[in-house]
Amino acid sequence: MTRIPAPQGLPIVGNTLQIPSHSPVEHFVEVAAGYPGGIFKLEIAGRTVVLVYDPDLVAEVCDESRFVKRIRPPLSIVRDFGGDGLFTAEPDEPVWGHAHRILMPAFSQRSMKAYYPQFLEVAEQLVESWAGRQGDDLPVADDMTRLTLDTISLTGFGYRFNSFDSPDLHPFLQAMGGALTEAMLRNQQLPFVTKLKRRHEETYRRDIATMQSLVDDVIKQRRAEGGSGAKDLLGLMLEASDPQSGARLSDENIRNQVLTFLIAGHETTSGLLSFALYNLLREPHTLARAYDEVDRLLPGDEPPSYETIMKLDVIPRILEETLRFWSPIPVFGVSAVEDTVLGGPGGYEIPAGQGIGVLLPPLHRNAKAWERPEEFDIDRWLPEHKKDHHPGAYKPFGNGERACIGRQFALTEARLALAMILRRFALSDPNVYRMKIKQTLTLKPDGFTLRVRERRAHE
Ligand code: HEM
Repeated sequence: MTRIPAPQGLPIVGNTLQIPSHSPVEHFVEVAAGYPGGIFKLEIAGRTVVLVYDPDLVAEVCDESRFVKRIRPPLSIVRDFGGDGLFTAEPDEPVWGHAHRILMPAFSQRSMKAYYPQFLEVAEQLVESWAGRQGDDLPVADDMTRLTLDTISLTGFGYRFNSFDSPDLHPFLQAMGGALTEAMLRNQQLPFVTKLKRRHEETYRRDIATMQSLVDDVIKQRRAEGGSGAKDLLGLMLEASDPQSGARLSDENIRNQVLTFLIAGHETTSGLLSFALYNLLREPHTLARAYDEVDRLLPGDEPPSYETIMKLDVIPRILEETLRFWSPIPVFGVSAVEDTVLGGPGGYEIPAGQGIGVLLPPLHRNAKAWERPEEFDIDRWLPEHKKDHHPGAYKPFGNGERACIGRQFALTEARLALAMILRRFALSDPNVYRMKIKQTLTLKPDGFTLRVRERRAHE
């Protein structure tokens, strides 16, 4: 058998103290650079965590007959507020299947067409807001968060945050940022340390209560409107039953799902759009191709139709390549169903129940699977190249049954937003931003600003 390599830790605390609390993933990526075999293990807060990023090993751990998602740290901590919502439900909790089957139709491509007017409404608010702030340093991640939060809440629940009306981010977002950061910190703390930090505990519980009270408002508002029969996520959850078992979702579960969707449905897409804009500013050739595309397919000032947005080709490839370069969710976890061996006979022994993290940054830039991995090249997403991609090399939306239910939602929303931005504005980065990652479980570029000026008015 081959020993899984591991950086030297300390007695009792293992590697815990070597991991910087606010940027664990950057640390994992640095460690990964020293282990080109694509696997290593760490002892974190009393647990052994195996991280894999070799595409062959990742393809193995994505075999759902051998490895399944289990709710371990940090997800077991996120469960403090996600409860038995889709993201943080155990695979054997029946409610996962009920909710999954009830909600799947709401994420079909047909549903994206139904949501399109709301996608457009919020994207128009973004470009109007930027048109009024030409020459200012625009806080990219904050504005992408306004866009994506307002989009999921309006399309999913008919609820308006009106985030572009206020210079401050909504209290829900501050509470969410606090809770996600605390979940990340707790993931690397020995449990007795978490218990000692009373003030953190108070703030954490207050943040969770703030988020839950917003969710209660969302549901109350819908019930006050008579429950309506709307075909959005909330309408389905209140009225539909599981086609397989006939089960309905409990009030408590609906509350957990709404909070899950409010968080999962915006935080990552905001990161994707922020990283995409960052990449475009560094890749003038790709930016020029994107401008060509929007000028060709979206001439004039008319709101683009859903069909037009579906015809885009360069912009979706920019999004795919951005997700390769910077995955907003940098790690997802699975656990071994039984004792097993990774990497074929004589490979790495993995005991039943062992948690494995698929570490996306070094996987998505792994030279074994990608030619010129450090180059931002949208043409690797042309159909003729895409079909040759290694099956384990690209996992920005997770894997299998527990992969992201909102993938089409995110990609449709992001296509439209990017097209609307590029049609209207020339982008510049006079402050020459240098990438600094902010991690609150998900990744975003910290402090990234850009400036815009209207293209047509100046041409
Ligand atoms: C699951 C990524 C957008 C809702 C996941 C997972 C990943 C992911 C990696 C799997 C997590 C795991 O295995 O533990 C992303 C990325 C997005 C995005 C990169 C944007 C670029 C969205 C959107 C929604 C959403 C827009 C909702 C509207 C969910 C839910 C799950 C999930 C509910 C849990 C699914 C289940 O286990 O049944 N996402 N996501 N995500 N995502 Fe997304």
